[in-house]
Amino acid sequence: MNSPLAGRHIVLGICGGIAAYKSVTLLRLFVKAGAEVQVVITPAGKEFITPVTLSALSRKPVVSEFFTANTGEWHSHVDLGLWADCMVIAPATASTLGKMAHGIADNMLVTTYLSAKSPVFIAPAMDLDMMAHPSTQSNLDLLRGFGNHIIEPENGFLASGLVGKGRMEEPENILKVVESYFAKRQTLSGKKVLITAGPTYERIDPVRFIGNFSSGKMGFALAEECATRGADVTVVCGPVSLSLHHPNITRIDVESASEMLEACRREFDDTDIAIMCAAVADYAPAEKSDSKIKREQCELPVIRLVKNPDIAATLGRVKRVGQRVVGFALETDNEIENAREKLVRKNLDMIVLNTANGKDTGFGTDTNSVTIFKADGTAPIVTGLKSKADIAADIVDVLI
Ligand code: CTP
Repeated sequence: MNSPLAGRHIVLGICGGIAAYKSVTLLRLFVKAGAEVQVVITPAGKEFITPVTLSALSRKPVVSEFFTANTGEWHSHVDLGLWADCMVIAPATASTLGKMAHGIADNMLVTTYLSAKSPVFIAPAMDLDMMAHPSTQSNLDLLRGFGNHIIEPENGFLASGLVGKGRMEEPENILKVVESYFAKRQTLSGKKVLITAGPTYERIDPVRFIGNFSSGKMGFALAEECATRGADVTVVCGPVSLSLHHPNITRIDVESASEMLEACRREFDDTDIAIMCAAVADYAPAEKSDSKIKREQCELPVIRLVKNPDIAATLGRVKRVGQRVVGFALETDNEIENAREKLVRKNLDMIVLNTANGKDTGFGTDTNSVTIFKADGTAPIVTGLKSKADIAADIVDVLI
C-alpha cells in the first residue's frame, strides 16, 4: 500500500545534537516512503553529521547557509517554507527550540521554520536536566500553542551516561506520527465543515449582556481536528479569547444568536457537516437600550426576554440528503433522556452529551468526557476523561 507520504515535500531540519545520527535513518525512511526530502541543517548540526551523507540520501544539496560562499547564490527560506508539505525538526535541541519559540532567526533552519505554512513536527533530544528545565518546557508550551506537533522524547539511556527523558523518539516512530497525520488528513479532504463555538452575548445595553461561561475550547479543538484531516472549515464563533492556527480555517466572529444564525445560514448551503458546539443563549432581551441603563432611573428594572432562534434545529430542518448536523447537549439532570430528546427534536444525525456537573468537564476546562449518540440507534460511545483535542478526534472518528 502507498504511504500517505508518497509525493509529499518534507523539509527535514537537523540540529547539533548527538541524536543527529538517527536523522540519517529518518531521512532514509522518508525517502523510502516516497517523499521528496530537503535537508536543512544548522551549523552545529554539521559537526555531528556530514552534509555529504545527507545529500547522497536525499539526492539534493543540503541547505545550511543563507548564501553559497563562492557563487553568492542566495538560498530562499521563503521558497523552501512554501514548498514544504510538512517540516520535521529532528533532533531539535534546546537552543533551536528557544530560537523557534522566540523568533530568533539567525540560521536557515529557524528562518525556514518561520516561513513554513505547513504543519511542523518537532522531535526534541537533549540531556534529561535540559529537557526538564522550566525554560525548555515553557518554550515547548509556546511552540505547542503555535500549533506545532511535539513528538515527545523517550526515557532511556542518554549520551551523557545519565538515564532519563531526553532521547529522541526512534525514527520509525517519527515516521509513523507523520504518516498518520497525513493519513488522517485525507479522511475529510474535499469536505466543508461548519462549526459554531463559544457563547453568544445578548445585549441589554451598550455595556451589559446576557451570556454564559462557554470558552469556545471544544469548538476550536474540533475546528483544528477537522482542518488537520483535510476539511475546509468555517468557524462561526461568539466572543472568545482564543485563536485558531490551521490555514484551512476561516473564522467568522459574531456576538448574538441571531448573528450566529445569519452567518450559519449563509454558510450552510455548501456545507457537508455542521457541528453545533456553541452555547447559544436561549433568550435575548426584547428591547435593547441604546444608552446605559442608569441605576437612578428606575427602582428595579425588568428585562423582558424573547426566545432566540434555535440554530441547530433550523439547520436540522433544512438539511438536504447527504448533509449532516451534529449537536451538543450540556446537561445537569436526566442527561441521557435530554440528549436523546434533543437528537430527535432538532433532527440531528449525532449528539454529543457532556455533563456540566464534573469539575474537569464542560465550560472552560481543558478536558472533557462525553457520550456520543447517533441517530441510527447504534450503541452510544463513551470517551472517558481526555483533553478536548483528543475528544475532538474521537468525535470526528465517530462522524467519519
Ligand atoms: N443550540 C442552537 N441554538 C440555540 C440553542 C441551542 O443551535 N438557540 C444548539 C447547541 O449548539 C447544541 C444543541 O443545540 O448543539 C443543544 O443545546 P442546549 O443548550 O443543550 O439545548 P437547548 O435546546 O438550548 O435546550 P435547554 O437549554 O433547555 O437544555
